[in-house]
Amino acid sequence: MADNGGVNDPAATDPAGLAAFRALLTDEGRALLAELHDHDPADELTLATRLRRSYAPELVSAALAQARLRQRAAVKFGADAARMFFTPNGVEQATRTSVAAYRAREFKGLGVRSLADLCCGIGGDAIALAREGIAVLAVDRDPLTCEVARANAEALGLAELIEVREADVAEIDTSSYDAVFVDPARRGGRGRIFDPEAYSPPLSWAIEAARKAPHAALKIAPGIPHEAVPDDVYAEWISDSGDVKEAVLWFGTRPGAFGATLLPAGASLWSARATMLPDPEPRPVGRFLYEPDGAVIRAHLVAEVAKAVGGGLIDPMIAYVTSDGLHSTPYATSYEITDQLPFNIKKLKALLREREVGILTVKKRGSAVEPEELRKKMKLRGRNSATVFLTRVAGAPTMLVGHPAPTG
Ligand SMILES: C[S@@+](CC[C@H](N)C(=O)[O-])C[C@H]1O[C@@H](n2cnc3c(N)ncnc32)[C@H](O)[C@@H]1O
Repeated sequence: MADNGGVNDPAATDPAGLAAFRALLTDEGRALLAELHDHDPADELTLATRLRRSYAPELVSAALAQARLRQRAAVKFGADAARMFFTPNGVEQATRTSVAAYRAREFKGLGVRSLADLCCGIGGDAIALAREGIAVLAVDRDPLTCEVARANAEALGLAELIEVREADVAEIDTSSYDAVFVDPARRGGRGRIFDPEAYSPPLSWAIEAARKAPHAALKIAPGIPHEAVPDDVYAEWISDSGDVKEAVLWFGTRPGAFGATLLPAGASLWSARATMLPDPEPRPVGRFLYEPDGAVIRAHLVAEVAKAVGGGLIDPMIAYVTSDGLHSTPYATSYEITDQLPFNIKKLKALLREREVGILTVKKRGSAVEPEELRKKMKLRGRNSATVFLTRVAGAPTMLVGHPAPTG
């Protein structure tokens, strides 16, 4: 495949980097890495000086860099990170375990037993797929990344299920696999890439590869406009603990639908394009405010949430839903609203003082105010907590004060 704007250019892998990584896999390298388990980055200078008495300086530098990457990767891979290997790009681009495991279960549920992971990186997805018992051909064109993926498969006891192949994805014949998964590189030398045709491989290539397989999924940026989503796929936005992590295009399941999946609970809301509800009507602010999850908003399913809670929007352009009743939904966080004020810092300050609010959560949608600056200006003191929404109600800048609604 033609080189794509320098996105993860294979020539970028420096042979010295490969040699340094291989040194970490020797008994000596592993012993050194074990010594760095849980090291405190603040003590690195002293530590490095001590370690250089017993190990070669290049090995110490490589091990310290790897130990730092393991610490960074713990947010994505949890306890596994301490046994895994990474590259800086590899950590950045890898799918976190929660999302990869969810997707692997979906593939397994479709009856998939073998899968070609085209653009495997350090193996975030391949590992989760193998843990579901799926045999994975993991392909990446970057030599160091492939070595790291192999080391990860071995470190996690999955080497029998993961075959790592260093190749351009365009060279791979996927016809003997039950499924294809493509996670194109979306970062280049100059940062994040927004044009899907500038991904490596380009989105149009990935779509073509997906269409040839009985089952397929493509991971894409959550910001993909709905117009860019092919008509016959299921576009799923995935959030984890309230943060939108990615979008996935599924081929062969729920054709022509948009959906949102919220992890860790795994609740999924979806609708066929043809039957999606129109935008909810605006209405006056009621006793409760619902903040839909970001994945629900990206999937354009706010109207479905509004219907479920018997509510409407506070403003035609703002994705806050309001209703007079409290309804439990996994797709939105609910708040009880106690006060509605026109946007006025002094009035808010007076109200918070009167209510003895010492802890303030600031949320905003449709307001340019910086939450941290607002919090400073409030000079908070007191034993109570509150949430303030800086937003617009029927076009007017407004502050809504309240607190999380009781659950259960
Ligand atoms: C987003 S990362 C994959 C991350 C992976 N899913 C994970 O969870 O660890 C994309 C990878 O695609 C590889 N890549 C980009 N273009 C490629 C191509 N044409 N052939 C093979 N690999 C390619 C890059 O080297 C990079 O490692």
